[in-house]
Amino acid sequence: MAIDDLASTLDHRDNRATGESVVRARGVNVFRWSTALRQRVMLLEEIEWRVDRGQHWVMLGPNGAGKTTLLHLAAADSHPSEGTVEVLGKRLGNTDMRALREAIGLVDARTSRAIPSRRPVLETIESGAFNSIALQHQRLDASHRDRARELMAVVGLSDLATRAFGECSQGERQRILLARALMPSPELLLLDEPAAGMDLPSREQLVSALVSMAEGDPGLTTVTITHHLEEIPPTATHALLIDHGRIVAQGPIDEALTSESVSAGFGLPIDVRKASGRWTAAIS
Ligand SMILES: Nc1ncnc2c1ncn2[C@@H]1O[C@H](COP(=O)(O)OP(=O)(O)O)[C@@H](O)[C@H]1O
Ligand SMILES: [Mg+2]
Repeated sequence: MAIDDLASTLDHRDNRATGESVVRARGVNVFRWSTALRQRVMLLEEIEWRVDRGQHWVMLGPNGAGKTTLLHLAAADSHPSEGTVEVLGKRLGNTDMRALREAIGLVDARTSRAIPSRRPVLETIESGAFNSIALQHQRLDASHRDRARELMAVVGLSDLATRAFGECSQGERQRILLARALMPSPELLLLDEPAAGMDLPSREQLVSALVSMAEGDPGLTTVTITHHLEEIPPTATHALLIDHGRIVAQGPIDEALTSESVSAGFGLPIDVRKASGRWTAAIS
């Protein structure tokens, strides 16, 4: 990835106030009907969470903890069963979710699965302009195509413009999805396991890209789900640990991400360390 180019592709929003809340969840419960269990299952319970503009959160927790469910609330992709969620100052259930999503960039497995496998890479990236799977031809113009090409170069995929999305490797798809999510210069960027399937150099490029974005755009807010502490960019400011649908720890990253909290979250004795801005975890 041409990391140095990345910051220049983003809108500079330094003049906007930091400190205002971008995501605010109050008293949130999410339950779904399980056909297998024939009963209501709680996916999230008593969630209190506030993300302010300019913050960079990482979300950690075991498989099935509720991370993706929580991220999809922040993505204005679903509603809470109880409680309230505000995203970019708009209350979910009380606003046009589609319009709201246009200011949000999302990289996740559901989007990846929804993209038609025959769609060329360039068009896949373009579809992010309005954060929809459908290509909104009537709204797309030459400037969108230029931006898609620019972002394709930034993530190092210029050679793949006409390749079908379904024919790309997992690591390439993740980079395509990142470029797609950046199309609208989102105020809020949400990444669900963005390094999944990436080799080590690609993962390190992704970390550099996240650092470059955070440093180049003080108005950008991000939430990144990861399983690996090694993937946490040094620019991360806050962490949230979740287990069985409940928040176990949250706050400024140095306070929230400790051996104690991570051990409690994963139910294993885990030794968490930080050196030169990067994190590692090992069974202790
Ligand atoms: N629509 C649904 N109906 C029932 N259970 C669900 C539904 N969606 C997710 N789940 C369950 O909710 C739990 C949390 O899921 P998820 O948020 O995807 O976890 P994570 O991303 O932390 O791995 C999992 O046990 C999952 O199987
Ligand atoms: Mg998940």
